[in-house]
Amino acid sequence: MSDVKQPIPLSTQRAGALTGRVRVPGDKSISHRALMFGALATGRTRVRGLLEAEDVINTAHAVTALGAPAAKKGDVWEITGRGTGGLSQPEGPLDFGNSGTGTRLMLGLIAGHPIEVSMIGDASLSRRPMGRVLNPLRQMGLEVVDDKDKLPLTVRGTDQLLPMEYTLPVPSAQVKSAVLLAGLHAMGETTVIEKEATRDHTERMLRYFGAEVRSEAGAGVTRITVKGDAELEGRDVTVPGDPSSAAFLIAAAVVVPGSDVTVEGVLVNPTRTGFYTTLKEMGADVTFLNPREEGGEPIADIRARGSKLKGVTVPPERAPSMIDEYPVLAAIAASADGVTRMEGLAELKVKESDRLAATATGLIANGVDARVEGDALIVRGSATVKGGGTVATHLDHRIAMAFLTLGLISDAPVTVDDARVIATSFPEFRGLMERLGARYA
Ligand code: S3P
Repeated sequence: MSDVKQPIPLSTQRAGALTGRVRVPGDKSISHRALMFGALATGRTRVRGLLEAEDVINTAHAVTALGAPAAKKGDVWEITGRGTGGLSQPEGPLDFGNSGTGTRLMLGLIAGHPIEVSMIGDASLSRRPMGRVLNPLRQMGLEVVDDKDKLPLTVRGTDQLLPMEYTLPVPSAQVKSAVLLAGLHAMGETTVIEKEATRDHTERMLRYFGAEVRSEAGAGVTRITVKGDAELEGRDVTVPGDPSSAAFLIAAAVVVPGSDVTVEGVLVNPTRTGFYTTLKEMGADVTFLNPREEGGEPIADIRARGSKLKGVTVPPERAPSMIDEYPVLAAIAASADGVTRMEGLAELKVKESDRLAATATGLIANGVDARVEGDALIVRGSATVKGGGTVATHLDHRIAMAFLTLGLISDAPVTVDDARVIATSFPEFRGLMERLGARYA
């Protein structure tokens, strides 16, 4: 297991108007993929704006240990690719820390190589289900040496992977990506069928690296097919700002009266913008300015101003496009006029923590009327939020940031029991929020 580090509690209190223009670090999903695809490509891949947070740094160490060195030169990360099928046996276990994305995508990568790899992670990651990727990968030929579906885990790949057609049993981009990555090494075509659209960065970036990937929509599903025995070529990648990190700044700006905040250069791929759609439905003054494209992904500057919010029902089919934003949406729903009902949240139970329970418990501890009803989270807003509670973060970065956002609108400070976990995805969170005017203790 990864090192156990000392928790660092942090509190925040009611803020005056937040103002300013800032940038958030690079998108986490795209950063992981740039490192992994760079490792599989021939030649050099150069990545600008890579997210330098713990999750992604662990992936950089993992690809390096697999024989494709990733290192920072000036302000660019360079990966020396080994070509598909070219990764080599690492000397020790690969430590993925807190990262489900790192682990699950890497399982897809390893599957196509005749190497034996042990994978470890922290207490949170070691509780998370890996069967969802191991099941299809086993059918393609991956051997799970110790026959279980949680980390720590040892797997053995093969250069004789079978292609497959796989219908996703859960709407998960990580599972889709793991199967497609394995498919790059299989003999023939591998197809993933998804009923609900999940983030499509793997498809976009694989095409950019020269792989043959088709997406065909019809009969209520999308079929994504990758051609096996693929050859990828090293590329230059610019990583746009992470909309899931920007969400905390935008949420704060929306709920703190008088605020006016712009976050520049944010990824606005429609498979990721459900949170912003929901904010607009709640009456928030949020606009996408200066839309443009960078590296095959749409980006924009997002401006948000202090707004009066009303409660809404967020439909289950929107969940994949805002899956990481429910904790912060629930936090700001605490001050909305009326009830916010968020439906279809089963997947929240298997994130870095059980986010459905952690969010409801944290809200209740701070005097908010919140409850879980099956897979739905229901928050009744109020003109005043009591605060004063301490929230258990359960090694979950987004629970920590969501409740530090709640503190900005609470009568008494809100405390999270461990702010260190924020470094998982967004080490600059506190500094950026302080630049906008928030205060922490
Ligand atoms: C991710 C997919 C999502 C998301 C995670 C990143 C990815 O997970 O929650 O933060 O990069 O593919 P699931 O695939 O489990 O939905």
